Amino acid sequence: MGEFYHLLMKHSLSLLMAIFMVFSCTTKKEKPADLNLINIVPAPVKVELQNGFYSINDTIKIAALTDDERSAAAFLIEFLTLYNIPSLAVSDSNASISIRSFVSKEILPEGYYRMSITENGVDIFSTSASGLFYAVQSLIQLITVDASVVRIPKAIITDFPRFAWRGLHLDVCRHFFPVDFIKRYIDLMAQYKFNTFHWHLTEDQGWRIEIKKYPKLQSIAAWRNETLIGHYGDQPHQFDGQRYGGYYTQDEIKEVVAYATQRHITIVPEIEMPGHSLAALSAYPELGCTQGPYEAATLWGVFDDVFCAGKESTFTFLQDVLDEVTELFPGQYIHVGGDECPKIRWETCPHCQERLKDERLADEHELQSYFIQRIEKYLNAKGRKIIGWDEILEGGLAPNAAVMSWRGEAGGTAAAQAGHHVVMTPGFALYFDHYQSVQKNEPTAIGGHTSLKKVYDYEPIPTALSQEESEFILGAQANLWTEYIKTPEHVEYMVYPRALALAEVVWSPKENRNWDSFIKRLSNQFRLLDLQNVNYRQPLTDELK
Ligand code: ACM
Ligand code: ZN
Repeated sequence: MGEFYHLLMKHSLSLLMAIFMVFSCTTKKEKPADLNLINIVPAPVKVELQNGFYSINDTIKIAALTDDERSAAAFLIEFLTLYNIPSLAVSDSNASISIRSFVSKEILPEGYYRMSITENGVDIFSTSASGLFYAVQSLIQLITVDASVVRIPKAIITDFPRFAWRGLHLDVCRHFFPVDFIKRYIDLMAQYKFNTFHWHLTEDQGWRIEIKKYPKLQSIAAWRNETLIGHYGDQPHQFDGQRYGGYYTQDEIKEVVAYATQRHITIVPEIEMPGHSLAALSAYPELGCTQGPYEAATLWGVFDDVFCAGKESTFTFLQDVLDEVTELFPGQYIHVGGDECPKIRWETCPHCQERLKDERLADEHELQSYFIQRIEKYLNAKGRKIIGWDEILEGGLAPNAAVMSWRGEAGGTAAAQAGHHVVMTPGFALYFDHYQSVQKNEPTAIGGHTSLKKVYDYEPIPTALSQEESEFILGAQANLWTEYIKTPEHVEYMVYPRALALAEVVWSPKENRNWDSFIKRLSNQFRLLDLQNVNYRQPLTDELK
């Protein structure tokens, strides 16, 4: 490596970029590199493999100068300690690994990086902090250690993500997970270049975010009297008699948001409305249509008691809640739920019926639209955007809302055709609460069957969309609802390795996706996950065909 090489690279990089862009546009028929030798998941955009390895058996010096470079270097240093390999960040270029930001005249995709591994060492270049971070994640996956010798295969890698929304969701309401585990969930997401964590914070069974203006959300809504034993389908229902609950303090939320930000992950908090709100009603029964009393649910499902859409106090409450939520979460999107809201209480509630008349609404679906649109207006005025489950299409979509398509792809397709942004999370492929195999010994799950292969084969752009419409597909996300998942170990079992398949769906170019290559690269990932003590599910041989 050395100074001359650095300077040369710095000054000629824009030109190289331009050449690369032209090259990659005119060589569509080029055979993809043999990605099996570069075991990275998600598969990079372009790999130029060279023979041999770069090896080091000394303290690894990592050249890093700016804050972004040093931050990326810190993740590499932390990883090397897992192998007891000594390493340190240095400010000169006389190092084995160099992490460099550069300024480009080209507009490069967010997260773009280029990494070259030669006999002289490793050079990482990116125009963005996220690109440096992703390069380090790729490098971590390339490193093997044998008797204190670090080996990295020689290659030149050019990489950037296909989609802007690469998400994983976690329901912390049906079961609650401690801050340390949320951080670990974020660590693993970052390792596979996910950038959006959808934190499902409120539900019928528990309210999990501290809201200072409403202390009963902590003292009452965060708790349920007991929990169903076994599966919902087992009759008669039996309960464990154990009070269950918990919530994150605002200080803890701030800590998690900062932790995620360092790992280039945006957190999208979900505050459910108007349905799935029984826990909130248990604390503030005046916000329901019937005055209650209400109790946080002890059973799973969909409940008739929802926020009253007629009373002004409902909107005052939710706006106050959102004031605190937006202070805590800096990302552009706030998820407002919108799914599975029965209209039966609204049909007979005088407040709701008066609202219907006053606003000249045709039916209760339009009343739900009124509800969501009013919240959208409030959040838009604060400079934020809303995203909601695909039910928010019914009765008329809020003008600027993004849609999360979960009941298949129809909602997402319709929303994209209407010029709304969409995140694809269809149940048939991306619900990680489904069984992973048809084996009888799988732990009890909600139902369904979403194999690793089904996730891998998922294509987020529906065929019905034109090129122009497909631009509205922000990306895809897997959802993990935790009715039947009580422990961090079980969360990891459900998410890994399926998240690796999704990572490739949302990051890698469609033409680089190849099942045979993926399953070969998987064994290297299992080595890494073993090192991190991740409780992933080991696929059966039959599932890897
Ligand atoms: C959902 O699964 N109810 C969004
Ligand atoms: Zn009402």
